[in-house]
Amino acid sequence: MLSETVNFIQNKIKENLGNFVPEVGIVLGSGLGELADEYCEYALPYSEIPGFEASTVAGHKGQLVFAKLNGKNTVMMQGRFHYYEGHSIQKVVYPIKIMKKLGVKTLILTNAAGGVNPTFQASDLMLITDHINFMGINPLIGENDDTLGQRFPDMSEVYTSELLELARKTAHKLKIDLEEGVYMALTGPSYETPAEVKMARTLGADAVGMSTVPEAITAAWMGMKVMGISCICNSAAGISNISLSHEDVINAANVAKNKFKTLVKEVLLNL
Ligand code: HPA
Repeated sequence: MLSETVNFIQNKIKENLGNFVPEVGIVLGSGLGELADEYCEYALPYSEIPGFEASTVAGHKGQLVFAKLNGKNTVMMQGRFHYYEGHSIQKVVYPIKIMKKLGVKTLILTNAAGGVNPTFQASDLMLITDHINFMGINPLIGENDDTLGQRFPDMSEVYTSELLELARKTAHKLKIDLEEGVYMALTGPSYETPAEVKMARTLGADAVGMSTVPEAITAAWMGMKVMGISCICNSAAGISNISLSHEDVINAANVAKNKFKTLVKEVLLNL
């Protein structure tokens, strides 16, 4: 299946863009898809791609977008697959494997998240320094594809230190406040209870969300360099007494999206 998908996409790229090999992959989280709209040279809807699922979440368009962005051939996922949509965890990470096969060496994962660190505010950006997989499942469960990575992959540096350094330097130069912390993934789709948020904090999380970790594990397994950026869209349950809605999450991402885009573009320039 992998090679069928890769051949299909490569043929589409050839027809529409000629000789284009993506070297950077970007997964755009809820409300952060505008980067793809602005630079799109060619878009391929997930519904047309063999092996891909259709994305169903509001605020997610559901297409692969190809573009040269600040000199780097880039493939962007405008919308991702979530485990809570009912997809198997293998389907959730399938596009990441495809990116690897297409030639992507560096992956930038972005998401909307709830702030668990009480110093965080809505619309803050957080550089993911590490993660806690609290989804109760791992995308590498099942037969191991030895051509992609080894059975027991090291996870001591999922978020590549050289990319962390680049993100910090870039944010500093652009005068963009960039928080840092540990992202904990839960399955969702229900938001956390205040007790769960307290647990997350106690276990060392700074933010909670429903994505990113399966993709990061898969990318690290395949030897990709990974950077992760969370848009803190709300204080997680119990941190403030406002109840949570997807609409508020999208609104906060809207407020953050300009600094987010500026940061990502400058990071690409300096990759
Ligand atoms: N929890 C989990 N996922 C989220 C949140 C949250 O508070 N906000 C945005 N995505």
